[in-house]
Amino acid sequence: MSLKPIQQTVLVIGSGGREHTLAWSLARSPQVGQVYVAPGNGGTEWPANPAAEGLQPRAAAANVPISVDDLSGLVDFARQKNVDLTIVGPEAPLAAGIVDLFQEAGLRVCGPNRQAAQLEASKAFANDFMRRHNIPTGGYAVFDDYQAAGDYLRQVDYRVVVKADGLAAGKGVLICDDIDQAQAALQTIMIERAFGAAGDKVVIEERLEGPEISILAWCDGQTVVPIIPARDHKRVFDDDQGPNTGGMGAYTPAPDIEPALVENVMQTVLQPAVDGMAAQGTPYIGVLYAGLMLTADGPKVLEFNCRFGDPETQAELPLLETDLLEIFWACIEGRLDQVDVRWRSGSCATIVMSSPGYPGSYPKGLPITGLDKAAELENVVVFHAGTAQSEEGVVTAGGRVLAVSALGDNLAAALSRAYTGVEQIQFEGAHYRRDIGRGYQ
Ligand code: AMP
Ligand code: GLY
Repeated sequence: MSLKPIQQTVLVIGSGGREHTLAWSLARSPQVGQVYVAPGNGGTEWPANPAAEGLQPRAAAANVPISVDDLSGLVDFARQKNVDLTIVGPEAPLAAGIVDLFQEAGLRVCGPNRQAAQLEASKAFANDFMRRHNIPTGGYAVFDDYQAAGDYLRQVDYRVVVKADGLAAGKGVLICDDIDQAQAALQTIMIERAFGAAGDKVVIEERLEGPEISILAWCDGQTVVPIIPARDHKRVFDDDQGPNTGGMGAYTPAPDIEPALVENVMQTVLQPAVDGMAAQGTPYIGVLYAGLMLTADGPKVLEFNCRFGDPETQAELPLLETDLLEIFWACIEGRLDQVDVRWRSGSCATIVMSSPGYPGSYPKGLPITGLDKAAELENVVVFHAGTAQSEEGVVTAGGRVLAVSALGDNLAAALSRAYTGVEQIQFEGAHYRRDIGRGYQ
């Protein structure tokens, strides 16, 4: 006799490519019956498919028109639909305390609570925390007074980075070549208040030099399990030219991020961070993302994020062999040490297709064609980000529009397949980088 598995209902909060990937990965779990995505995008709705094979999701997904900042609306929805587990994609609702609210309502949710999310939401908190717990980072000082910050700039004998303390959608970090730029950065943040209340305090950091990497891990408050290393490409144009973006493509595993380096970061950064948060009574549960600079004195932390990366997730989760739902449950229940997190061999690459003009202003509502052709390719999945369904079909609705991911036996194969996927898809002015993963094939 076989028991019918209990089919769980999960809710993914967010609307980007990362959230499409989370919904897709969860919908492949044999334990999931229904996925909801709030608010989702043009690609996060599909019917159930009991005969799913390969990279197809099995459980149905549906969008829910509730925005990520309507926390009580999200709680009400989760209650009404008897959602078993909620996963939060972006940082803003985590920093606003969505986990605390869900827990107060007796709902299960995987992510850091408001206190723990301070590791991302306040750069001053993160720096003070790292100093207290001997986690390697550069020199820094925190100011809420413009004059005092300016006086400090004249004392330090190194180049600096000036950061708004709070969340500023990745824009509140100003890298300065000299004191004039640093003074101008202070003016931008503290006087012009370009990032609003996020700039009530500034953090002036020593400017570190070296190659940059990110190492992410699942955390259950005690145990830390690394996620396969990925590399993102932040600049909008090939050869790392043009302005920074949320990320234009990623690949995993990154061959130059060797197991010994991951282990080093686990021992010196991620485990001490999780131990430190537990010791101060704010256990860290969820995904912890360490952005690091590989300096001449070893890896040093640039920032923590309290969530998955976007588009790194689109290159990581297709390689995950273990049931993602299992991992999230283990994080919540404090038994991550009992889960065998396995990854497929081979590589995954993801190429972001963006709107013309991104990361500046861009048009919306451009019709997208060729998605069906890309979907027919083997080992290719198209994750939607800034898209919407309209009467004419799928149209663009954001800066980063799609992320085309592909698996391969090696990076060259994954990249070539991902680019074949990209070439099937058209919208007016579509932009993508041609050099994702170049130099590593
Ligand atoms: P953050 O949001 O704090 O990671 O900063 C965004 C980007 O700014 C990082 O990915 C780095 O490229 C750069 N950055 C941040 N902090 C520093 C630092 N202390 N030294 C050099 N570059 C930095
Ligand atoms: N792709 C960088 C980030 O998610 O922060």
